[in-house]
Amino acid sequence: MIPAPFSAVPSVPYPRPAVDGKALRDACGAFATGVTVITAATGVSGRAEGTTVNSFTSVSLDPPLVLFCLHRQSRLEPVLRESGGFVVNFLTHHQQELAWAFAGRDTARVEEVPHHRTPEGLPVLQDALGHLVCRLDSEYDGGDHLIVLGEVVELGVPEPESGTAAAPLIFYRGSMRSLPGTE
Ligand SMILES: Cc1cc2nc3c(=O)[nH]c(=O)nc-3n(C[C@H](O)[C@H](O)[C@H](O)COP(=O)(O)O)c2cc1C
Repeated sequence: MIPAPFSAVPSVPYPRPAVDGKALRDACGAFATGVTVITAATGVSGRAEGTTVNSFTSVSLDPPLVLFCLHRQSRLEPVLRESGGFVVNFLTHHQQELAWAFAGRDTARVEEVPHHRTPEGLPVLQDALGHLVCRLDSEYDGGDHLIVLGEVVELGVPEPESGTAAAPLIFYRGSMRSLPGTE
């Protein structure tokens, strides 16, 4: 027996027309998110890469797990696999230029962006709102993306100097902006 709320939904004929990728992207653009740059590097002085990602989400507190989705052709993916870890850098609204720089095929180079390295060599971007250092836990099939699950092993949330936290960078309907009222 279907519970009342579901039985009240009118039946929809199948099959439905295929969902268009661009339409799906536009629809999902109505869901506002924060913006991160995921960084990884192969060893302390090895190849480092960063990619702008808004598919980040926290998953579990115990154990501490987070995830993001990465398209399968990403140049970050082999570096991620080799390094076995990554850093989630939460961007402030001052870092919009940086976010776009890490969002193209002709991407910014981590070496040219102010950062420091964790003891295992993972790049932590300077002036971010906060960061999570993660051990690569597992990867799952997500269609044309990989669902990357990481265990948080260290976190950093810098104390704001003025007592007022910096405003986050928001991605909404294809453009980046600050959260109204927090500039
Ligand atoms: C706001 C924003 C969010 C993005 N989020 C993701 C994401 O969650 N996963 C992803 O694979 N690419 C995402 N991208 C696209 C990547 O940043 C872009 O494909 C990448 O930097 C280009 O280099 P790569 O393809 O070698 O990784 C996003 C781009 C922007 C501007």
